[in-house]
Amino acid sequence: SGTDVATVLAGARIMPVLTVPEPATAGPLADALAAGGARYAEVTFRTAEAEQVVKAMAAHGGLAVGAGTVLTAEQAERAVAAGARFVVSPGFDEDVVTTCRELGVPVVPGIATATELMRALSAGVDTVKLFPAEPLGGLRTLRSLAAPFPRVRFVPTGGIDASCLTSYLAEPAVLAVGGSWMATPTHVANGYYDEIRRLTADAVDRSTT
Ligand code: 3PG
Repeated sequence: SGTDVATVLAGARIMPVLTVPEPATAGPLADALAAGGARYAEVTFRTAEAEQVVKAMAAHGGLAVGAGTVLTAEQAERAVAAGARFVVSPGFDEDVVTTCRELGVPVVPGIATATELMRALSAGVDTVKLFPAEPLGGLRTLRSLAAPFPRVRFVPTGGIDASCLTSYLAEPAVLAVGGSWMATPTHVANGYYDEIRRLTADAVDRSTT
């Protein structure tokens, strides 16, 4: 169904997380990510121009573009109106989840504890972002948290880079891995598109071999 996040992600397992202050860079950025083999990207609502960036990247057509750092139901509505195909949040907010479900868009709320995960499950969510994954204890924490919840799929994000990517992806409970390491705010601000393409290709390569 349209609200199933695994359907939107369609087997690709790398989620580039982007913070883009300048909508004019959305086109070349989408080109670089797509050229590196990314199939989707998360545009964070941390900049005033995030909606325009979502719109521009969605129009590019080469990527399924979602919205990240969505904190409120109102932001979720604006993100989806701008063309976001999925919504990611750093935490669990029931209004955000309900709104996304009403809009028919998959939502991946963030959780950091078993209690938060149980609240997400009660709201009908089965795919969560473990955030911030590395500061929380990384793979050990993910495994311990996943054990009592065999139906839950995780998208660990926060402090992850190429060096620990494959060990996360080897975990059966991990649906995909997110992070900004492929296109950091510095890369984006300086137009380092070759580097973005190279880092994305490296991550995609690690995820498929
Ligand atoms: C996010 O919003 O998901 C995080 O900022 C991504 O975490 P990272 O920047 O540590 O990869």
